[in-house]
Amino acid sequence: MLVTSGIVGGEPGGGGKMADVDEYQDRHLTIRVVADQRDVREVTTIRRAVFTDEQHLTDVVDRDPYDFGAGAVQILALLDDLPVGVGRLHVSRGEGQIAWVAILPQYRGQGIGWEIMDALLAAAGQHGAKRVTLSAQTHAVGFYRLLGFRTVGKVWMMSKIEHITMVRDLEDED
Ligand SMILES: CC(C)(COP(=O)(O)OP(=O)(O)OC[C@H]1O[C@@H](n2cnc3c(N)ncnc32)[C@H](O)[C@@H]1OP(=O)(O)O)[C@@H](O)C(=O)NCCC(=O)NCCS
Repeated sequence: MLVTSGIVGGEPGGGGKMADVDEYQDRHLTIRVVADQRDVREVTTIRRAVFTDEQHLTDVVDRDPYDFGAGAVQILALLDDLPVGVGRLHVSRGEGQIAWVAILPQYRGQGIGWEIMDALLAAAGQHGAKRVTLSAQTHAVGFYRLLGFRTVGKVWMMSKIEHITMVRDLEDED
């Protein structure tokens, strides 16, 4: 399922954050729900590049029980035909959890992470979530704050990387 699609530098998704960067002008960004096993393999490749090879956070990127089944939505971002970013939502009992948000290093800072989060938050609302939580790496807190999340509780460590829980309420939103 296509979520949004547009020329970089335009406004995919309406009011999107795609940056006005010459290098990416005229490249086509597609944000869509993971559709088949090929997409799943692309998701695994990006997770492994970012969370295993770059961050050394975990070697296990393809055995999350919340990736599939009822309430699960995986998003894949493609620049032209190249997979460049991912994110995953799981909704259960009115609560959404977002995880595995990652953009390949060379494609960061162009608004792609924003578009993925926009799609995941919209999906959360469609699945009846009243609020959404995530475990933010502390370097990304500013990114999630811009998206309406607030920090909750104390910083904790996972694989030597600082994390903090963040929450966004969805109730009373359009
Ligand atoms: C965090 C991440 C997903 C952001 O994606 P991105 O595509 O680079 O971000 P965007 O270009 O969409 O940024 C959207 C807005 O957030 C801001 N932003 C992005 N990363 C930020 C950060 N780390 N801290 C503060 N603000 C940030 C941007 O400046 C932009 O704001 P602006 O439009 O007002 O300038 C990306 O850096 C990434 O994949 N990091 C490695 C994996 C990771 O740590 N994931 C998060 C795990 S919790």
